[in-house]
Amino acid sequence: TRVAVLISGTGTNLQALIEQAKRPSSAAEIVVVISNRPGVQGLKRASLAGIQTRVVDHKLYGSRAEFDGTIDGVLEEFGVELVCLAGFMRILTGTFVKKWNGKLLNIHPSLLPSFKGVNAQKQALQAGVRVTGCTVHFVAEEVDAGAIVVQEAVSVLGSDTEDSLSDRIREAEHRAFPAALELVASGTVRLKEDGHVTWKSNS
Ligand code: GRF
Repeated sequence: TRVAVLISGTGTNLQALIEQAKRPSSAAEIVVVISNRPGVQGLKRASLAGIQTRVVDHKLYGSRAEFDGTIDGVLEEFGVELVCLAGFMRILTGTFVKKWNGKLLNIHPSLLPSFKGVNAQKQALQAGVRVTGCTVHFVAEEVDAGAIVVQEAVSVLGSDTEDSLSDRIREAEHRAFPAALELVASGTVRLKEDGHVTWKSNS
């Protein structure tokens, strides 16, 4: 499966996906990395891995529709079949999400549906939960509400700060996202028309 990864920054999730796609058993081939910000470390990671990169700077577009349209054009140019949002900090328009429905995965640093939105790690700390985690889900028009593919739980320690908890969650992300990539790229998991995921049974 031809995969695009969309990033906005460091790209540690991208790095985990690159390493997963390199495995001989992987069903995924990352064919392009797109960043909405120039010069970020994730772009260097892609280049080092020999993956083509594109920058679509959202500041250069007058509307979300034009920005999304340009992203869509790059995805079509590379014949992309599956899109992974890995620390991509833009909200995509309904038109784009509808077109790529079932082919768009996102990682969120909490056990959805808990703690949607920004600062999910901080929300968890403030709520006093003893377990949080990360979620890989299909992107739906409602933010952080799409069908869940993979989750990994992470304990909250009494000594945790937002940073220490975020670091531990990110380690879980680096396992959860590659796992979800394989499940969807291999066709084991897919999104049904009714918005729920279905798992291919071997029987
Ligand atoms: C991660 O914390 C992820 O949960 C959130 O953005 C961050 C991406 O980090 N969506 P990186 O760019 O993959 O290192």
